[in-house]
Amino acid sequence: MSGRFCDKVAAVTGGSRGIGRAVCLRLASEGAAVAVIYSSSPESAEAVVAEITSAGGKAKAYKCNVADSAEVESTVAAVHADFGRIDILVNNAGITRDKLLVMMKEADFDDVISVNLKGAYNMLRRVSPIMVKQRAGKIINISSIAGINGNAGQVNYSASKAGLIGMTKSLARELAGRGICVNAIAPGFVETDMTERFAADEAVKAKIPLGRMARPDEVAALVAFLASGESDYITGEVIRIDGGLAI
Ligand code: NAI
Repeated sequence: MSGRFCDKVAAVTGGSRGIGRAVCLRLASEGAAVAVIYSSSPESAEAVVAEITSAGGKAKAYKCNVADSAEVESTVAAVHADFGRIDILVNNAGITRDKLLVMMKEADFDDVISVNLKGAYNMLRRVSPIMVKQRAGKIINISSIAGINGNAGQVNYSASKAGLIGMTKSLARELAGRGICVNAIAPGFVETDMTERFAADEAVKAKIPLGRMARPDEVAALVAFLASGESDYITGEVIRIDGGLAI
């Protein structure tokens, strides 16, 4: 397959649905071999793999809970063994446990931090050395507008997504000399399972200057741009994709 990502290997966490699925399909459509990393639904992950391979692309599904460092270590080793390199890492896996702080249980806080923040650390810890050896790589962390502006009912989630921004900036500084760019994307509302409950909420849409939620493929297009290296002069950046929500 030809395209911008011909001969490139991408690893995408939470690749079986929503934004992650769109990212897998987009990178594969431009020639990347894709490791579709999923936590719970083999059927959905295999459906993404089938969609890619039936279009002539290359993909394989890997079951891995990103919050589990041992699972991440063996999964990254398996991806590396299967494909020989990892050029693009998209830390997309994420969960919400929304509640006002007074109602928020310790487990709600810990679970969200474990998946959204520690999960990204686990992946970065194992993938970075591979990219350093290659002296090339693109890392894209999916943060959120909630990590920039905060959001009532999302103390845990906002903290995890703000943490991801700090992680992005620090790692960008650490890896810049090795030819590796590290950036974050901060979506507003995107039409996925995560935001299903807001889909028909006109009050939510009224807050968005562009008047609608994003489609997952619109976020995937931005991931593809950062992964492409068309501009290799962007690192440590956080790019909002929110229809103007946070203007
Ligand atoms: P989603 O709920 O449809 O997908 C989340 C994915 O993460 C699923 O594939 C799920 O299986 C995976 N995942 C969850 N826990 C995991 C774990 N422990 N290990 C591995 N994978 C795990 O949500 P969506 O909307 O596609 O979200 C993707 C990312 O985008 C998340 O990080 C989310 O926080 C972020 N985001 C989403 C926004 C939205 O409006 N949908 C807005 C801003 C950020």
